[in-house]
Formats: sequence, structure tokens, C-alpha cells
Amino acid sequence: MKSEEIRKKFLEFFKEKGHAIVPSSSLVPDDPSVLFTTAGMQQFKPYYTGKADPIKDFGSKNATSVQKCVRTSDIDEVGDATHLTFFEMLGNFSFGGYWKKEAIHWGYEFIVEILGINPDRITVSIFEGEKGVPEDKESFEIWHKEIGIPVDKIKKAGRKDNFWGPTGNEGPCGPTTEIYVDGVEVWNIVFNEYYQKSDKSLEKLKVQGIDTGMGFERLTVMLQGVPDVYETDLFHSLISKIRESSGSLETKVVRILADHLRASIFIIADGVRPLNKEAGYVLRRLLRRILVYGIKYDIHADLFTLAVEEISDKFGKSYPEVKNTKEILNVWLEEKSKFEKALANGLKEIENYKEITAKDAFYIYETFGLPFELLEELVPAKIKNINKADFDDEFKKHQEISRAGVEKKFGGHGLLMDTGELKAGSEEEMDKVVRLHTTTHLLQKALRDVLGPEVHQMGSDINAERARFDFSFSRKLTEEELAKIGGIVNEAIEKDLPVYFKEMPQEQAKMAGALAFFKQKYPEIVRVYFIGDEKHPFSVEFCGGPHVDNTLKIGKFKILKQEAVGAGARRIKYTVE
Ligand code: SER
Repeated sequence: MKSEEIRKKFLEFFKEKGHAIVPSSSLVPDDPSVLFTTAGMQQFKPYYTGKADPIKDFGSKNATSVQKCVRTSDIDEVGDATHLTFFEMLGNFSFGGYWKKEAIHWGYEFIVEILGINPDRITVSIFEGEKGVPEDKESFEIWHKEIGIPVDKIKKAGRKDNFWGPTGNEGPCGPTTEIYVDGVEVWNIVFNEYYQKSDKSLEKLKVQGIDTGMGFERLTVMLQGVPDVYETDLFHSLISKIRESSGSLETKVVRILADHLRASIFIIADGVRPLNKEAGYVLRRLLRRILVYGIKYDIHADLFTLAVEEISDKFGKSYPEVKNTKEILNVWLEEKSKFEKALANGLKEIENYKEITAKDAFYIYETFGLPFELLEELVPAKIKNINKADFDDEFKKHQEISRAGVEKKFGGHGLLMDTGELKAGSEEEMDKVVRLHTTTHLLQKALRDVLGPEVHQMGSDINAERARFDFSFSRKLTEEELAKIGGIVNEAIEKDLPVYFKEMPQEQAKMAGALAFFKQKYPEIVRVYFIGDEKHPFSVEFCGGPHVDNTLKIGKFKILKQEAVGAGARRIKYTVE
């Protein structure tokens, strides 16, 4: 069975059982607590908590999807037979519709009737119970009495194996029952009965939900009867192309290349650009590893270009965004040329060191953009006395220093106000910088609306003479985009929206969608600024203030100039009149 057919059969099966087919959401989730979409249920989180109404949004309490996912926790295991950076997940979901009986019967029916798996090959597992969450006797009865699975083929297990969730810091979660074929787990059926809060305590969910996930690649391996995922039709021709154009490489290297090429193409197609933080950093690592392998293994062909064509042919039908080959290639070419420059400079710098300490490694990373992983590949002998954890410690120290700068905020010495970001020498100047500062919130929102959620504030620098706002984005903005951004900001100003803050626990702020500097550690209780009414705010951001109290006080917003500031970051100079 071809992979395409498996996707189709799955969706059609659940459509017949009363599910709405919902397209995969982007790999970049609308949830600041995670960098990538890691599971099919991610896009459905608000339906489990009752925040959104499935009937209104897709006409059914039940949904089914084939979801693109990226998991980076496994990135170092990539290259073996099973771990992938990018993968797809088949899932059926219910938000207060059906419950255990249907979920289990349908799962079994799909595997046995539609895929034709012999029932003798099947075993299952259920949750054994723990303090506060009882053993899942209901599922046991369904498997045993209704479906006829013998007792010795029903394994009971604890939280580690049979309890799922939440994604991010908090969210829906619950006991699971899993279906195994020949001892390999293929399907995870989650009964979302609880909401886990950030303090790890569980609350009963108002709406009980079903969340199932079946690893698409693993299923394809099984149905195509091949030894591993790289032999399935999902990878086979890409692997052949890599082999044809790169001479004889170890299997593991070929697999890593295939995985990273496919993952980075999908990640770029969803709007992520190489950066030194967050999702952009993951992408940069993937791309730079491809580039480093090119050097290390003397590969002359441009594998990325080959892969873009291949992925577009293979996956374009299911994921039209990967057909955007020109734009995807541009991102690659730009990163490649940046890397080549950085590498040349970095290698020169490295020659000066007999031994590289963690501090040096961080300096090389910050100045030349060579991540620690590359030093491991390029000069293992020079870093033999340090490891990734030492480098990470150095990274953290650096963040603490820049955070200390932010925390000095609003202390005020000499100048009437000097927060690092805002400077004012008189009452009049103060009024101006406060207006300019409030504008950063509107500007960030407008940038994200127009350019996409990968835009994040990287810094701002404001005094009465000028205002700068730096943000993550890798290309020049068009005139049209700038006009749109200006329009959105001015429209918000003219609406005279209220500006006010609330103090709340960090997790609650994240739930409310407040924008924050990702890697910054915030205190437990944070101050969150809202612009607009609380139910539908225009902007929500972690911030210390100060701000005007109504947007009309800002005056007219005007963009003066845009500039590039280093790799993957841009600056807008603006004023208010
Ligand atoms: N959320 C569960 C998983 O990812 C089931 O879909 O395994």
C-alpha cells in the first residue's frame, strides 16, 4: 500500500464514522509554550478546554487529520532506524462526542478490517492506575469482553507508558490505551479526562475528549513490509538520489541527511527562517549540519536543491506549501552563503586556539555563528575537555547578564528615566518615550499579523530623538507590507484602545497568549500588558511598562526606515507625532 493511499484510507474511514476532515495545521503552533507542533492534538487544544467550539469551526464534535509534526528532543538519535525530526501523525479526535467504546472499536476495526492485519499479531496496553487516577477498567472490559483480546495480551502499565500529555507546560492529558502489532506500538489512544496545570496538579476537564495518534511512518514501514522507514516510499527515492550524488557514505550519514533535508524543507515551507533562537535556531542547526556534512564528506552536489524537487513531487499533493520551491531554495541559498562566510571567519579564529573552553565556544558561536555541534564535527580534539552541557551553562550565564540589564529597568539614575531600553532627560522627553514604547506593542502585533508568527521582538532602543525596534525576520519588507503594518498600528491608535496591566501567574499569561522573550526566565507572577478589551485584546505582552493609558495619546505612527541588523533580524526606525 502506497503511503498516499494509507493517508486517504485513514481519513475516509473516520469521515464515514462522522468525523470532519481537518487539514494539518502549520508546524509553527499558535502556542508560545512550544516551538513546534509535536502532535496531532496540538491544534485542537482549545476545543478540549471549551475555549473554542468545534461545531462552529468545522461542523462536528469529531475531527480527523494527518498532522505534520517536528520533535527536536530526538534530534540526536536521528540516523537510527526509527527517530525522525519531521514526521506525520494520523489521528482521530473527539471533543465531548464519543468516548472509550467507539475509540477502541474503531481503532481495532481500522487495523484489522481496513489494513488487513491478522488479529493474532495484536496486543494492547491499558493504564494501571495511580494515586488520584483509577485503573482504566472500562478499556480493559472493552478489549477483553467486546473485542475478545485474551487477558494475557492486555498489558497494564503506569504513567510512563500509558498516560499522555500535556504538550507544553500545561494542557489536556489522560490515560491511554495502546495498540501494538508484533510488539511494536502503532496507535496511541488518549482519553483526555484531565487538565494538568503548571504545578502538575490535575483537574477534571469539563469536556471529555478523545485524542489518538498513529505514527504514519511506522505504520507505513509495517504495511510495506520493509526493514525501516528509509526503505518506505516516503524516503526511498530521496535516499537513492543522495547516494547517487554523494559517492559512498555510511548509512547513518545518508539517513541523517535525508531526515534533515526533509525536515528543513517542511519547516521553511511553514515560514520559519534561520535565526539564532527558538524555531529558527533548530532550522539553522539542521541546515548547517547538512552544510558541514557537505564539507566533511566532500559532497559536491547541492543535495538541498535535489531534495526540494523530490519533496515537492512526493508531498506536494498532501502539503501544497512544499511546492513553493523557489522561496524554499532562496532561504537555503541565503543561509548557505552566510554559513560559508561565517565558517571561513570562524575557522580562522579557531586556528588561534590550542584548546577551546566553554567560554571560547560561546564566543565563537556568538561572533561567527558556529554552534557547538559544529565544533564537535570540525575540531573534536580542541574541545575534548568540554561538552554540550558546559556550553549550555555558558549560554545561560550570558542570558542572565542580559536579563539583569532588563531588570534594572525603571530604576532611574541621572536621567529621569534610563531602563536600558528607554531613556529620557525631562518630563517632556519622558512623555515621548512612553508613547514610543507603547507603540512597540502595537508594532510587534502588526508585524506578526502581516509577516507571520515567526516574528518576535529582539530588542528595542528608545529615546526622545529616535525609536528602534528589532525583530526576527530574514528579508527586506516590501513597501506594501510596510504600508499595511503602518495602517494596522494607526488604526489601533485611532480606536483609542485602553492600555492596562494585570499581574498573573506566568502560566496563565502564556495561556492568554501573552508574547514574551522566549528564553528569558520570568518570575512566577508577571505583569502583562493588555491593549484593547480583555476578551479580545489587540495585543497582550509580558512587560514592565510604562505606557500611555489610551492609545489615542500615542499620536500618529510613522515608519521612517527599515534596516537589516545581522543575520535573520531587522530593525524598524519609527516615530510618533
Ligand atoms: N497526543 C498523543 C500522541 O501524540 C495521541 O495523539 O501520541
